[in-house]
Amino acid sequence: MTWLIVGGAGYVGGHTVARLHAAGRPVVVLDDLSAGLAERVPDGVPLVRASMHDTAAVAQAMIEHGVTGVMQFAALKSVPESVSEPVRYYRENVGGLVSLLSAMTSVGVGRIVYSSSAAVYSSGPVAALPRWIARRSRYRSSTSASAMARWAARRSSAVAAW
Ligand SMILES: NC(=O)c1ccc[n+]([C@@H]2O[C@H](COP(=O)([O-])OP(=O)(O)OC[C@H]3O[C@@H](n4cnc5c(N)ncnc54)[C@H](O)[C@@H]3O)[C@@H](O)[C@H]2O)c1
Repeated sequence: MTWLIVGGAGYVGGHTVARLHAAGRPVVVLDDLSAGLAERVPDGVPLVRASMHDTAAVAQAMIEHGVTGVMQFAALKSVPESVSEPVRYYRENVGGLVSLLSAMTSVGVGRIVYSSSAAVYSSGPVAALPRWIARRSRYRSSTSASAMARWAARRSSAVAAW
């Protein structure tokens, strides 16, 4: 199974790529390097420099590298920014996921692992807050965006693993 690691030059994606590569799993990175570093991508791992919003480029990368699953780590992630600039965050994070799902559907790739955020559970002192507390969070809009994206993934041919 070959994984396309979207955002694989970033912090979480970079660690994931390093672990998968060290374990001998075939991986390909797709990253626009807007916040990532090319040097995080280990030697021998192909790096496709493209935006996840470029659906055709994502689909082409999947075909060229025989991709069978996607791990999605590309996102804007600042909680305060997401509250002050929700439209930009929806466009990047929800729109980016829709583009990825479109590319996957077009080439028949049916598995995705999506990196969400613990911030959807608010900022209380308890590590794992009940879900109902999340509804009170100022970050609720992003929670809704995540739910919207999850619904879209499940309705598409992709099998979402959240
Ligand atoms: N950092 C954490 O501790 C943490 C914890 C839990 C969840 N997360 C989540 O994991 C995800 C990644 O977080 P991170 O800390 O690795 O962020 P990061 O900024 O280090 O990595 C994001 C990567 O995505 C790339 N990228 C951004 N927009 C892109 C686009 N349009 N097309 C292609 N590539 C694009 C960036 O260049 C970067 O390499 C986020 O959704 C974040 O909420 C992060």
